[in-house]
Amino acid sequence: MGDFELPQSLHLALRGVRSVGVITGAGISAESGIPTYRGKGGIYDDPQEGDRTIEALSAHTLAADPDRTWRALFQIAGAAVAALPNEGHAAIAKIEDTADRFVLLTQNVDGLHRLAGSRNVIDIHGDAFEVICTVCGKANQFNDPRTGAMAPQRLDMQACMAAGKAPRCPCGGVYRPAVVLFGEMLPEDKIARLYAELLDSPPDLVISVGTSAMFPYIVQPMLVAASAGKLTIEINPEPTEISDFVAFHIKAKAGQALPAIAAALTDQHPEH
Ligand code: APR
Repeated sequence: MGDFELPQSLHLALRGVRSVGVITGAGISAESGIPTYRGKGGIYDDPQEGDRTIEALSAHTLAADPDRTWRALFQIAGAAVAALPNEGHAAIAKIEDTADRFVLLTQNVDGLHRLAGSRNVIDIHGDAFEVICTVCGKANQFNDPRTGAMAPQRLDMQACMAAGKAPRCPCGGVYRPAVVLFGEMLPEDKIARLYAELLDSPPDLVISVGTSAMFPYIVQPMLVAASAGKLTIEINPEPTEISDFVAFHIKAKAGQALPAIAAALTDQHPEH
């Protein structure tokens, strides 16, 4: 546990917080070794590489050249399968334990929040370890050595990565990843949960951590919470679209600031 100091004004503001929402992006997994998309060292830092990655991870490329989409996906999933949750993920699971009401909205597809023990998760962009057959609709999963959940009928990610080809269903159809590709709609059921748990009744505290806040469905919960007079915190070493209107912008890494916030909330609710 680091000795990161929260400002006294934030300790005061955290008093009485009973419901919490957390919004995460790739930055929270950076300390687990997974590269971000934007910001320092991000995949998109090199514009050509960024454009190629976005093109490869689009719905029309999956239809036209699925092997290309899967090669780009294996870059992300390959980094994820070698990564373990960090102190930031663990702190969010701890905050969930202290809150009367908690929701985590994540853009990440790396499965690290689930591994860290988070329970009420809206994984709005899906999960890189799940696949669906584009012909028969059968769902399947990659083996995930991090969980020890290895089953013969599941797919072996290393073998698929080595082949560099789209994995195929026993029916012969190409599997697609259970993630939202560029150009696709967000899943309606997850949007409905986002509205119900973050917009219709904003929590006492909403924390945005490790996201460049590029998308309206990520900015909106922070805007709605701020305009409802709720406590809003952003944890990001860099400024973003929301930095100007949140109550506290903590210029720090997720693994530093989140444990301090979890400790402050735990001190208030020792009964949890
Ligand atoms: N702690 C906190 N924040 C960090 C850390 C860290 N250790 N390291 C980097 N960051 C911040 C960066 O400053 C950046 O603002 O995390 C943010 C990561 O931003 P992006 O790479 O844009 O990731 P994200 O916001 O999740 O992107 C949203 O865009 O490409 C799509 O589908 C993809 O889900 C992704 C979405």
